[in-house]
Amino acid sequence: MCGIVGYIGDREARPILMDGLKRLEYRGYDSAGIAIIHKGRISITKQVGKIAALEEDLNGTHLPGTLGIAHTRWATHGEPNQTNAHPHTDGTGNIVLVHNGIIENYNALRKILGEKGHTFRTETDTETIAHLIEEFYRNGTTFEEAFRMALSEVDGTYGIALITKYEPDKIFCARKGSPLVVGIGEGENFIGSDASAIIAHTRNVFYLEDGEIAVISKDGFVTKTIENELVQKKIEKISFDLERIEKAGYPHFMLKEIYEQPHTVADAMRGRLIEEEGVAKLGGLTPILHNVLRSRKIFITACGTSYHAGLVGEYMLEQYCRVPVEVEYASEFRYRDPIIEDDNLVVVITQSGETADTLAALREAKRKGATVMGLVNVVGSTIARETHGGTYIHAGPEIGVASTKAFTSQVAALTLLTLMIARTKSMSAEDGRKIVKEMKDLPVKVEQALKTADLVQAIAEEFRDKRNFLYLGRGYNYPVALEGALKLKEISYIHAEGYPAAEMKHGPIALIDDDMPVVVIATQDSTYEKIVSNIEEVKARRGRVIAVVSEGDDKLDRLVDYTIPIPMTLDLLQPIISIIPLQLLAYHIAVMRGCDVDQPRNLAKSVTVE
Ligand code: G6P
Repeated sequence: MCGIVGYIGDREARPILMDGLKRLEYRGYDSAGIAIIHKGRISITKQVGKIAALEEDLNGTHLPGTLGIAHTRWATHGEPNQTNAHPHTDGTGNIVLVHNGIIENYNALRKILGEKGHTFRTETDTETIAHLIEEFYRNGTTFEEAFRMALSEVDGTYGIALITKYEPDKIFCARKGSPLVVGIGEGENFIGSDASAIIAHTRNVFYLEDGEIAVISKDGFVTKTIENELVQKKIEKISFDLERIEKAGYPHFMLKEIYEQPHTVADAMRGRLIEEEGVAKLGGLTPILHNVLRSRKIFITACGTSYHAGLVGEYMLEQYCRVPVEVEYASEFRYRDPIIEDDNLVVVITQSGETADTLAALREAKRKGATVMGLVNVVGSTIARETHGGTYIHAGPEIGVASTKAFTSQVAALTLLTLMIARTKSMSAEDGRKIVKEMKDLPVKVEQALKTADLVQAIAEEFRDKRNFLYLGRGYNYPVALEGALKLKEISYIHAEGYPAAEMKHGPIALIDDDMPVVVIATQDSTYEKIVSNIEEVKARRGRVIAVVSEGDDKLDRLVDYTIPIPMTLDLLQPIISIIPLQLLAYHIAVMRGCDVDQPRNLAKSVTVE
């Protein structure tokens, strides 16, 4: 989603801002813009499309100045064109701002401001904020006061960075629902909508909380609430290195992240398995351990890939912990008034820790009295901070818009949770030890699964031009089918559907002919014989079958068009291995079709609007 970067100091702002924008590209965007203030004059340049287009526009332009803001926009209100791109200004052009989020009452505000003589040039909700500040400032307040007053009139969500001719040596920021991080340097300061925008320059940061503003100069900052109460911020150190957000020789972040999985899966489990006792220990749950272990019902809520990991979690938690589990898209959970009791546990799963619907679902669950735990990747993210307790999955920065390593780490973390709860119930130490042992073998098995890459690439070559794909799985591999289909559609724009294999005959079977590739996850688990029958049904209708099978299983060779052999493990851990060839398949097909794998059209990495 939209990205913000800001700089104030003694260096030229332009290269710092452009570099920051490039590091934010992964979030997904459709236009970009930059504003720099120099000798009291603010220059704005914006362009539709990639940062490269903005750069081209700036070529040959001298854009001096040591204070500026920049933005990548993911259109919500108004189509992605140059006019609607940020930064936006008030009527005088003296107030210039960039904004992430959505102003819900912008129509009402526009009307009121229109009656007071303001004219709007764009279709955006954002422009309204600039005019509103202008309106308050015109009435004789200080600029900061006008800024705060305007924000208190605004409903919705925002992360804002603003520069103005009225206070030409400051950047004004505010946050409500859309993250903003301030980086502290020596005689210079930085602003980012996430740390990757500024990490090349400083590791010392503080995060704005909802309802807070920051007024930043090159030598310092003041933080307050919108109600004008001073707030002390704690400076934190960002722990990840710059290399982790670079491609390390891979052509795309997505491929790099796919290949990181032997390590990231190991990192999710590191120090958390006690082999002798066959149990897992999750330190972040200590404050809520009693409630977690005693919960009588578990809700899992998430979006996208994280939701698919949640489905795997449902299967394992119910199977081993004998607790009823409900998994729900956060966007549904937050609005449908679910029945949540005090002794219920709500698990929110999120890579970014910033997804708007997941955050709202978390708040709703807390309001209803549940204990809420997070399975989060981004350390210090809003969701990580708002849950009662939680577990970091430690996958490191995930830049590829199509989530890969987060999924396998989420499933690994869910297994840890399952093991921890199950061992306080009916699971024996011996059964626990079996799971622990298999978990410890996972990194090697993931490594082996990655060795299917050449085979998968050859399959991709054959099927790259198909218009539809069906993915089928049963049991623990059913969510893998959903996730495999999601990977393909999001980066290759091929229509793909995931289905529980048996459900195929209630509809999708109508689509099957000799032009329809069907990817079936048919590893030798408790549903193996059943899925073989489903493959027969596809073949009887001349469908083309690509089967992910267990190593050594040649029974399917005669039946299907291609087999992709992967290592076997326990059923509950199988998704961590079976998803690997499907990630690779989606990746290679997308690359062969010339799609921009790391920045797929219309998608955003971190969806901070609902
Ligand atoms: C976006 C991303 C997906 C991700 C989903 C949920 O749609 O493109 O990759 O799975 O959001 O994000 P979260 O950060 O909450 O896991």
